[in-house]
Amino acid sequence: MATPDKLNLQDLRVSYDLDVMLESNTPADPVELFQLWFNDALAHQLPEPNAMQLATATPDGTPNVRTVLLKGIDGRGFHFFTNYESNKGRELAANPRAAACFLWNERHHQVIVRGTVSKLPHEEALAYFASRPAGHQIGAWASAQSQIIPDRAWLDQRAAEIEVKFGSDVPCPPFWGGYTIQPTEIEFWQGRTSRLHDRLLYGREGGVWVKKRVSP
Ligand SMILES: Cc1cc2nc3c(=O)[nH]c(=O)nc-3n(C[C@H](O)[C@H](O)[C@H](O)COP(=O)(O)O)c2cc1C
Repeated sequence: MATPDKLNLQDLRVSYDLDVMLESNTPADPVELFQLWFNDALAHQLPEPNAMQLATATPDGTPNVRTVLLKGIDGRGFHFFTNYESNKGRELAANPRAAACFLWNERHHQVIVRGTVSKLPHEEALAYFASRPAGHQIGAWASAQSQIIPDRAWLDQRAAEIEVKFGSDVPCPPFWGGYTIQPTEIEFWQGRTSRLHDRLLYGREGGVWVKKRVSP
């Protein structure tokens, strides 16, 4: 007998096929479609809808991946904030290309953004850093992100020292800031009950977005 969860999932899939993704019913601009799907994830109260799996690679092709949070989108691209001296920061300095994968599984949606990465202006890091809770600000100073450290106590001690040093006015570290992924490709995957899922790949060609269907 089907469990309630399975029944709910089935209901979702049935209703989902009513709104299939076609070349004819998707916007010309993939960022617009991304925003529609992101808003759909928000409306369905999915956990961490702005979480993306960010893939980078060293110049010799060794891949790496981790989760970061999308913090904005505009004409420049998809923005996230991090430590510039982290593994991802060093990888991006040497090879400024990345892919980011969003999974909104409950909605049978996946989006992959591929593109070139550049740093956001430091003023934007200052503004975003200032909006963060004090604990996060202290953490940004305390964490030499991606470095091996002796133990938890060492990290807690470092955070305590930083709190004493800066008090309630924690400045933005010079090694912390934003990046933007300027997309050259954005791929949308939408599940279908038939398993012959829909994939639309938008590629930047001669300054315009060109839409192509990809086999699932
Ligand atoms: C849900 C979630 C959100 C995260 N968001 C960020 C983020 O926005 N920026 C960041 O630097 N690390 C974020 N992290 C931590 C990263 O996944 C990663 O551990 C860290 O950035 C170091 O990665 P690196 O050593 O590959 O540079 C997040 C982790 C999780 C699980």
